[in-house]
Amino acid sequence: MLASFKSIGAYVPEKILSNEDLEKMVDTSDEWIQKRTGIRERRIAEDEITSDMGVKAGEIAISRAGLRKDEIDAVICATISPDYFCMPSTANMISHKLGLNPVTSFDISAACTGFIYALNMAKSFVQSGTFKNVLIIGAEKLSSIVDYEDRTTCILFGDGAGAAVIGRTEMQQEAIIDVHTGADANYSDYLITPGGGSAEPTSLETIKNRRHFMKMQGNATFKVAVKTLTKDVIEILEKNGIDSNEIDHFVPHQANYRIIKAVGDALKMPKEKVALTVGKYGNTSSASIPMAINDLYESGKLKRGELMLLDAFGGGLTWGSALVPFGGE
Ligand code: ACO
Repeated sequence: MLASFKSIGAYVPEKILSNEDLEKMVDTSDEWIQKRTGIRERRIAEDEITSDMGVKAGEIAISRAGLRKDEIDAVICATISPDYFCMPSTANMISHKLGLNPVTSFDISAACTGFIYALNMAKSFVQSGTFKNVLIIGAEKLSSIVDYEDRTTCILFGDGAGAAVIGRTEMQQEAIIDVHTGADANYSDYLITPGGGSAEPTSLETIKNRRHFMKMQGNATFKVAVKTLTKDVIEILEKNGIDSNEIDHFVPHQANYRIIKAVGDALKMPKEKVALTVGKYGNTSSASIPMAINDLYESGKLKRGELMLLDAFGGGLTWGSALVPFGGE
């Protein structure tokens, strides 16, 4: 059995948080943010929670795959900002809100690499015959775990969701070629939400010390990100005997324009082949890659059979890459 990337969908909330808005909240400037990150603005969910955004992206992906809701056999949601801490899973809430059959639904926690982890699992489920159609979603309400008093992180992140249907195909040229994933906890303190888990259960102290918010060692993360993202794509290309000029669309995780440029340059990838949404959405963690693929699709740039190279990196540390022909209409 072969697995194919059948469709894409995404959703962003309406409210825009601009760099100028952030200037009024912390000691920063539009000039600093644009120069260091390439970000101009990001979206913020107000009344919506993570599953609401996942539902909207998922609905589009199911409809673009030409499927009925009762044809979806499993839902995997990658998120670090779930509706509820521990349980129920956000995927479970999405399945219910979408009105799916009571199907297998679970979350993946792999930070910004989560969508590639979900893709890997969905591919295996389809190839093994366990499930026919798997809805994978990256959905984040990062504004709920960002400290808007910390200028080193609050300028980076935004909210949104992206979704795809992974289903069967008999056509080799439409089948997902390969997915790589990895992790290394040697750098676990580079990106961490220290409070609220079993390591530091929630207490007045953890809240007072803002331990429930995301913390990041930005500069150290930046250096590992460039190295890891580059190494990972070179490895997946070499392993599959594919030259970088055979790639139609390079879709890297949208964390920082400077990281994307450094990796694109290392691959000698022409600018027009590199997906870029970080300027308008910021870093949306697990949602960033499917949101960027959706942007390509909706702007008419992504056509059936075109080869995408996906590349992500995030807290954990985690990383992943994938060679994926677009199998949708
Ligand atoms: N406005 C103004 N000045 C700032 C701001 C800000 N918002 N933030 C930091 N600064 C200051 C710092 O205090 C520092 O000042 P100092 O020199 O007086 O000490 C100076 O700017 C430089 O700080 P750096 O941290 O060295 O800046 P850098 O060029 O590394 O950019 C950034 C910071 C944008 C965070 C960058 O390091 C980055 O993008 N890192 C990687 C992020 C990433 O890829 N994360 C992984 C995925 S996220 C996930 O998994 C959830």
